[in-house]
Amino acid sequence: MKAVKIGILGLGTVGGGVVNVLNRNAVEISRRTGREIIVTRASARDLNRERICDTQDINLTTDCYDIINDSEIDIILELIGGVTLAKDLVLQAIDNGKHIVTANKALIALHGNEIFAKASEKGVMVLFESAVAGGIPIIKAIREGLSGNQIQWLAGIINGTGNFILTEMRDHGRDFADVLAQAQALGYAEADPTFDVEGIDAGHKLAILASLAFGIPLQFEKIFTEGITKITRADVEYAEQLGYRIKHLGIARKTEQGIELRVHPTLIPERRLIANVDGVMNAVLVQGDAVGPTLYYGAGAGAEPTASAVVADVVDVVRMLNSEHPNTVPYLAFQTDQITDIPVLSSDQINTAYYLRLNAEDKLGVLAEVTKILADHKINIEALIQKEPLEGEITLPVIMLTQTTLEQEMNAAIAKIEALSTITGSVCRIRLETLG
Ligand code: HSE
Repeated sequence: MKAVKIGILGLGTVGGGVVNVLNRNAVEISRRTGREIIVTRASARDLNRERICDTQDINLTTDCYDIINDSEIDIILELIGGVTLAKDLVLQAIDNGKHIVTANKALIALHGNEIFAKASEKGVMVLFESAVAGGIPIIKAIREGLSGNQIQWLAGIINGTGNFILTEMRDHGRDFADVLAQAQALGYAEADPTFDVEGIDAGHKLAILASLAFGIPLQFEKIFTEGITKITRADVEYAEQLGYRIKHLGIARKTEQGIELRVHPTLIPERRLIANVDGVMNAVLVQGDAVGPTLYYGAGAGAEPTASAVVADVVDVVRMLNSEHPNTVPYLAFQTDQITDIPVLSSDQINTAYYLRLNAEDKLGVLAEVTKILADHKINIEALIQKEPLEGEITLPVIMLTQTTLEQEMNAAIAKIEALSTITGSVCRIRLETLG
């Protein structure tokens, strides 16, 4: 049978990793697909740059449009990242009848609805396994492996850079900026690292997972995001004293009122497996009504882990090309006419527990005032630590864990606590999930 020809847009870290994996595992891969796969063309911004892969047999160009307009090419791998050019290239390539494999989470999260509509019209596949959690086959797990379930919620560590920073701060007391610079040097971080530390990258990935899990449109703009930049080493230590770890989680939960979509630092009981996912590793916990909790763990970034997922998508496309039957797996897991617009709840409608840290003056009755405010808002305190003031300080840190409450009650209570003359600065609030 004729070899399948691939064109790669972007021969950076991931593109180079894909070429290496396809070359190294060529025999094994063609045993799986029944066809030879050849990378015939690739685009790169700088043709003279040193690469991690051998490009001897690849026709290189600086113009991505050369590749999407090449009638010989069957599958386009979009690995350039960014949104504007990538979107134009992908839509034009679909128009040209090419199948698409992309690692671009922002592209799918922001423009997936339009891309899948066009792909469906043109009868081509668009696969994006590597867009979420790097090498972990979480898209396939939700779209296919768990398709007998009603997914109730999922929670994931889906940004490796953020997890690496939190782990290094906890284990080695390192500075935030210093660890971030290392993550950038290792090629984990986004071109704009604020995407990692402010939860935007995780938000893109969560939009995709939620769509697959609940059969809703991709709607990144409705996700509540809070970053990790305000987490202090003191919070990490207090959380540990209380038996918790702080992780930057993406959470999607279906409730009777609608769907919670949120990314924020979260206290998790240290006994949970996901609380022990460290460094650049990712993990996603998915709760299905039939299967119960399932946990998926692996490398969330890096050349070859990401290539592993890209190549798996290529294998799926090639198998489909060989088949007499059309693709039977819908792009977003649910049949296109069954995608339902269930409301996404606003952040003040979230139900969660909390860690609170406040600086209180060492005066009679201060704690009573604070606990009265919480009680007025029906917020139950679960645990409390009060530290002695440091020498020369007039305030002391008070740390509390609360039971689950509506975020709007907590917002109102925090505003009143911060207005007390005996409380200095703002209240540090970190959401807490038991994930039981
Ligand atoms: N910047 C991303 C991360 C890369 O750190 O997880 C993988 O999507």
